[in-house]
Amino acid sequence: MKPLIAGNWKENCTIREAIALVSGIKGLVKDSGHADIVICPPFTALRDVSAALKGSSMMLGAQNMFYEEKGAFTGEISPLMLLELGCRFVIVGHSERREYFMETDLAVNRKLKLCLKNNLTPIMCVGESQQERNEGVTKKVIEREITDGLEGIGKKEIERIVIAYEPVWAIGTGLTATPQQAQEVHAYIRQLLSDMFGESAKKVRILYGGSVKPENTKELMAQKDINGALVGGASLDAGSFAEIVKRSA
Ligand code: 13P
Repeated sequence: MKPLIAGNWKENCTIREAIALVSGIKGLVKDSGHADIVICPPFTALRDVSAALKGSSMMLGAQNMFYEEKGAFTGEISPLMLLELGCRFVIVGHSERREYFMETDLAVNRKLKLCLKNNLTPIMCVGESQQERNEGVTKKVIEREITDGLEGIGKKEIERIVIAYEPVWAIGTGLTATPQQAQEVHAYIRQLLSDMFGESAKKVRILYGGSVKPENTKELMAQKDINGALVGGASLDAGSFAEIVKRSA
């Protein structure tokens, strides 16, 4: 399966900084046909990054969207607005949205369905907290997020969804899950998908996220059920991000 490397810039980069960063990345990943590359800047920079990506095979993604196409929802962003800016991907249910913005599995589910309706590819995030891992309920948490998040999704539709396993304790902490720890959860996710969607499960890309760096990329990507990476901090440095893309081959 062709790996997918996505950079989640989170709440970083003014427009000027975003243009500089994407230009830097563009110059460094020219010969990276082995991977699909997605850049997810903040909303305010989407238009300029979209323009900067013209002529490159890198694709544009948003970090969030709302589950209604339009209406009186102050401050929210519609999939139609994202499509207009050239977005093809949307990160849905990132743990930071679940933690700081009270996003529920139901909201994640509604967002996924609206993405699919509009031909946007959702990158659906799941993952356990440190406390949940300590309590030994990692699989329980993942099972709930996967089954409730994907409720009502069809066998053909699942092939258009990307899953990202991001253990919350590994995000921004420098504590990467070991390749074995990550593979164990990825295999479990694949099994859940297989129970729900049969053969289609084999076609779903499952990304790993949480302190991915050039130094740990190769080992993580060598795992059977790891099909790419969702990169936070290291995606803010053109050289590091390009190196991660290179080492994902
Ligand atoms: P870091 O790579 O900074 O740990 O962030 C991971 C992440 O949350 C990507 O969505």
